[in-house]
Amino acid sequence: MRRTMVAGNWKMHGTRASVAELLQGLRNMALPGGVDVAVFPPSLFINQVIDGLQGKSIATGAQNSAVQAEQGALTGEVSPAQLADAGCSLVLVGHSERRLMGETDEMLISKFKAAQACGVKPVLCIGETLAEREAGKTLEVVGHQLGSVIEALGVEAFVNAVIAYEPVWAIGTGLTATPQQAQDVHAAIRAQLAAKNAEVALNAQLLYGGSVKAANAAELFGMPDIDGGLIGGASLNADEFGAIIRAAGN
Ligand code: PGA
Repeated sequence: MRRTMVAGNWKMHGTRASVAELLQGLRNMALPGGVDVAVFPPSLFINQVIDGLQGKSIATGAQNSAVQAEQGALTGEVSPAQLADAGCSLVLVGHSERRLMGETDEMLISKFKAAQACGVKPVLCIGETLAEREAGKTLEVVGHQLGSVIEALGVEAFVNAVIAYEPVWAIGTGLTATPQQAQDVHAAIRAQLAAKNAEVALNAQLLYGGSVKAANAAELFGMPDIDGGLIGGASLNADEFGAIIRAAGN
């Protein structure tokens, strides 16, 4: 039986004070069983978050990591080995906001591989733009984004990875894919994995992301191939994030 995951992507938000306040809310939260909960703070706050969540079963992840596993001359980057050393167990790979900044398939494949080599689980983000959806190319685009990683690293790489389907047009816009639109893409993602390895497909955690909030979470998470969510804006409010986590527990 697949576990559900609810992950909060804080993006480039927060100050030491606001992070301390959010941590207080997370510490006080009653977490339902069967739901993996994680937060992805800006790397500047990773140590503060890990310290603040000591003893609480909420994992900490990074929003990005370097293309190589070990330390080196890569100014401004953080290596997955450093993330593992800090206590991070997860990292986002290929978020659409980073793809827009110029991150290529080749770069994110290296990041995915380097993270796994350090025991940091990649959360691969894939999704189509509005123009691609309107042109009827959603499954082609998402299939290509996933396929390039499968081709480079093998489907077995997804034994220890999470996939987040995040339609670009739904991120931060208040527009959410309908549960059926999201389910259709999730089913296609699982079928793509299954074509290579049925067991990997069955066990893969597939998250939906894009304007998930307490009001729409239960309906989305109720779909058969949606195993939780990657939450941006709504994860910055502990009450709202807590309500989304509870929706995943039902
Ligand atoms: P959003 O962001 O929930 O604010 O739409 C989701 C994401 O980018 O991961």
